[in-house]
Amino acid sequence: MAGSLALNSLFTLANPLVITADRMVDVKAGKVIESAVVIIEDDVIVQAGHSKKIAIPDNAEVMALGDYTLMPGLMDMHVHLTSDPTKHGYSSLSVSVPRAAITGVKHAKDTLMAGFTTVRNVGAPGFTDVALRDAINDGDVQGPRMFVAGPSLGVTGGHCDNNLLPYGYHDKSEGVADGPWEVRKKVRENIKYGATVIKFCATGGVLSKGTKVGARQYTEEEMQALIEEAHLRGLTVATHAHGTSGIKAAIRSGVDSVEHVSLLDDEAIELAKKHGTYFSMDVYVTEYILGEGEKAGILPESLAKERIVGTKQRENFRKAVKAGVNMVFGSDAGVYPHGNNGKQFARMVTWGMTPMQAIQAATINSATLLKQQESLGSIEAGRKADVIAVKGNPLDNMALMEDVGLVVKDGQIVKSLAM
Ligand code: ARG
Repeated sequence: MAGSLALNSLFTLANPLVITADRMVDVKAGKVIESAVVIIEDDVIVQAGHSKKIAIPDNAEVMALGDYTLMPGLMDMHVHLTSDPTKHGYSSLSVSVPRAAITGVKHAKDTLMAGFTTVRNVGAPGFTDVALRDAINDGDVQGPRMFVAGPSLGVTGGHCDNNLLPYGYHDKSEGVADGPWEVRKKVRENIKYGATVIKFCATGGVLSKGTKVGARQYTEEEMQALIEEAHLRGLTVATHAHGTSGIKAAIRSGVDSVEHVSLLDDEAIELAKKHGTYFSMDVYVTEYILGEGEKAGILPESLAKERIVGTKQRENFRKAVKAGVNMVFGSDAGVYPHGNNGKQFARMVTWGMTPMQAIQAATINSATLLKQQESLGSIEAGRKADVIAVKGNPLDNMALMEDVGLVVKDGQIVKSLAM
């Protein structure tokens, strides 16, 4: 007889672990499987599918969830786990690098508890993201699997520089590099210290002081050098880009994903389709910036810039989805509180995705962008055992994605239903 597993047991590693639920999302086929069974051994999924097709082993612990929907562990391609969302603008200057690292420990846990078992951290000071990733992998602290960029690369005075202080302070961000050889060297340095993805700023931004949000930063020559260097070493590249010219130059230069993607034209959409470039569009964060941003220290000029790009970005999200551009889930959590990543799902549907497309963006599409689709992003035999369960049917109501009940990462129950 199969035993039954207490739903409130923490960090359990039952072997094999069997989870049954009324529904499971097959993200590859884009359909829902009713009466689902998933069998996990150690950290790997060994069987998954309709209960009729799967025999439950006698020695298994069975977690019978009932009215829940199983899906792959969620993946967020744009977070800053070591950023404190309550310290924007000048108050960000009070945060030391070690303090940022410690903040990251809390944020990593909040993110995991929200069902995000994998994140791509696209910019962190002092390689705090590398330290956090290593601490998670060593089992010292709890958090998602992390792909990390280290410091973001950017031009002097650009969005990825720190422009808050006057000249006399001689302050600049660690990722500043100008010219093809400087950017190549910075890519090499980031890899040396543990980066597994490269991030650069192709245009101005909302939250940086003194940058024009639509204006291009980096020449095409610099972008090509940077991206070529990263690709030579087997790393993918993400670029921050709001403005059309920067978006197009980055796509032509071979970038793997464009972040934000606020101001698009038809040619940019065509280029993205032709090159297979992924768009990572943070369509929730604008609500937070305009609603809570002032209290958190966001500069008046940034609020003004957000009023320009926010609505355009969401309209362009609809266009990109309709055109069939490759879309991933990227939230920019860190600008807003970690663990609220899932709020973006309902917005993705409001702005043109089907619920299934939104879930695919946060699972199989993100896994493919990371070139991890053979191990992550779907519930099937041979994949890492990253599985979550959401009460009810989120395909009927995406707001349910904001409250993930069960989280299994690497075969370990890190959040159980009774918590
Ligand atoms: N980190 C981004 C920036 O400063 C945030 C942009 C958020 N706004 C938006 N509509 N997506 O540019």
